[in-house]
Amino acid sequence: MAGRVEGKVALVTGAARGQGRAHAVRLAAEGADVVVVDVCGPLPDVSYPSATEEDLAETVRQVEAHDRRAVSAVVDVRDLDGLRAAADRGVAELGRLDVVVANAGICSPRAWDQVGAEVFANTLDVNVTGVWNTVMATAPHLVAAGGGSIVLVSSAAGLKVQPFMVHYTTSKWAVRGMAKAFATELAQHAIRVNSLHPTGVATPMGEGDMQATLGAAMAGDPRLAPMFSNLLPVQITQPEDVADVVLFLASDESRYVTAHEMAVDAGVSEF
Ligand SMILES: NC(=O)c1ccc[n+]([C@@H]2O[C@H](COP(=O)([O-])OP(=O)(O)OC[C@H]3O[C@@H](n4cnc5c(N)ncnc54)[C@H](O)[C@@H]3O)[C@@H](O)[C@H]2O)c1
Repeated sequence: MAGRVEGKVALVTGAARGQGRAHAVRLAAEGADVVVVDVCGPLPDVSYPSATEEDLAETVRQVEAHDRRAVSAVVDVRDLDGLRAAADRGVAELGRLDVVVANAGICSPRAWDQVGAEVFANTLDVNVTGVWNTVMATAPHLVAAGGGSIVLVSSAAGLKVQPFMVHYTTSKWAVRGMAKAFATELAQHAIRVNSLHPTGVATPMGEGDMQATLGAAMAGDPRLAPMFSNLLPVQITQPEDVADVVLFLASDESRYVTAHEMAVDAGVSEF
């Protein structure tokens, strides 16, 4: 039986680990070749460890284990020229580009009065400008391919307010708006653009130090703790739970889904 994205080529940012790796590997398992992009180096302001080039090589290995081709690039999504070069090389080697998952992001929770100008700017640079750069570097290839699907990774924090994240919440609401704006203008090229809104996910970002950092901020106003409660009886979701939904948005099964806010949030946004 043909895979659900057989013959397509995808580009995933933040693909060295976590959700980005899960997306790349899930798409490969269903027949896509993949361009995997990651900075593989220090991330500004965050309390969790950085990804490495070995992590990105492991993603390539897992894609190739599905007999699909992978092209990898160590690029910071803040670098538009670097992203263009990676996308162009990917298309030169893999022949086309149909699917883009703008997944790279950072999160550094802290109380509102602990968010300095530099922290605010860093989060907006990676989470908003980095996503815009990703679309600008790749959309021309989707136009050339005659259509495609772009998924912009936001967060439940882009659907509802999440406390102790003024900078992150601002960035993820911006991504939600950006998806609709691109969807409007790219529709004439048969390109769909949707935003994706996960709740907490078990990745280096979502676990460990992050929980401790959030807990420390919460001590400043414990009344707000229930805002992180999922409706469904799950504490934290897995990267593969999100990858299943990315696969749906990448595939032709969602061919008339665009400008949509896709929540994979266990109902946290309704709590
Ligand atoms: N983990 C969660 O609880 C959660 C919840 C909702 C949304 N999200 C969002 O999901 C996305 C993926 O997060 P994750 O949980 O897999 O985190 P993660 O930290 O485990 O992985 C993120 C990857 O992105 C890369 N990256 C970060 N900044 C980059 C840059 N400037 N250029 C290139 N690569 C960069 C990192 O090196 C890393 O490999 C992010 O956009 C995040 O905001 C995460």
